[in-house]
Amino acid sequence: VQVGPFHFDSQVLLAPMSGVTDRPFREICRELGAALAASEMIAAAEHLRRGALNLKRMDVRGERAPRVVQIAGADPRMMALAARLAVDAGAQIVDINMGCPAKKVCNAMAGSALLQDEALVQQILEAVVGAVMVPVTLKMRTGWRPERRNGVNVARLAEAIGVKAIAVHGRTRACGYGGAAEYETIQRIKRAVAVPVIANGDIRTPEQAQRVLECTGADAVMLGRAVVGNPWLIRDVDHFLRTGARPAAVGVHELRSTVVRHLDAVHAFHGPRLGARLARKHLKAYLGRCHGGMELWRQVAGMEDARLQRRTVDCFFDRRIGEAQAA
Ligand SMILES: Cc1cc2nc3c(=O)[nH]c(=O)nc-3n(C[C@H](O)[C@H](O)[C@H](O)COP(=O)(O)O)c2cc1C
Repeated sequence: VQVGPFHFDSQVLLAPMSGVTDRPFREICRELGAALAASEMIAAAEHLRRGALNLKRMDVRGERAPRVVQIAGADPRMMALAARLAVDAGAQIVDINMGCPAKKVCNAMAGSALLQDEALVQQILEAVVGAVMVPVTLKMRTGWRPERRNGVNVARLAEAIGVKAIAVHGRTRACGYGGAAEYETIQRIKRAVAVPVIANGDIRTPEQAQRVLECTGADAVMLGRAVVGNPWLIRDVDHFLRTGARPAAVGVHELRSTVVRHLDAVHAFHGPRLGARLARKHLKAYLGRCHGGMELWRQVAGMEDARLQRRTVDCFFDRRIGEAQAA
């Protein structure tokens, strides 16, 4: 996969997810083989106000290259400014969000709501591509409504303006997250443009990833929800696509070292109070994979203290490892 000057061996990308794909999680996913891991979406308008949270979300300095910051908004001028700020903050690729169905974003006519106004899409893409020297990529849905799957038009437009890769979630804006993702429109988009197309939506296993690549002809897959609590899926998919073999299940030692490292990184990056709170959704997802994990989850669910959270999780894995050795 080639995005502007960047070449990737891996065909697996991490999907941007607000509240999930912060720097600690991106780093784990990159280590496990994700070709790219975009920042959480940053709303251009807020971004320009330089709120502390957005500055933190946007700051990708020190992460492994290529670093991607995603921006969202409906005002071409603001989007251009936001793109420049993102580059100043270390972005080597700027990704535009035209995929998010969230009311907060769509009411402001941004995210996937933009897909209904191709003239505005054109203005935004032109403004952003013209504002920065780094490659600009686009993440979008297949269209606005099932009856108006205009993804092919938008993709052609994006390519003509100079967008370097297009990730497509196989649902329309109106679908939200309901029903199953469809890949036929992604296939049509892939046939319509020469830039890399990345297929996204409902990919949960290595076999599914391969089937989606085969049926769409896409250059890569992008994984979202299935990676939460299971970042190893990225490695598994990558391995399967290269070799056709499924790697062994993750052992308790690796599970422990990743969970503890992730927890430490979240506490350090966000500070102990906010970190303890933000770590919860990851912990719940990780623990859901472990025998006895949900019991532990009930203990740590309300914990505000980062050190106690860390110690409780550590003890749990000590016990698990002891039991595995005794068995
Ligand atoms: C909690 C959550 C947050 C998300 N935030 C973003 C975002 O900030 N930017 C974006 O482009 N898509 C966002 N998405 C959409 C995902 O990137 C992805 O397109 C979608 O979840 C479908 O992929 P999946 O079935 O593999 O999860 C989000 C999805 C979820 C579940």
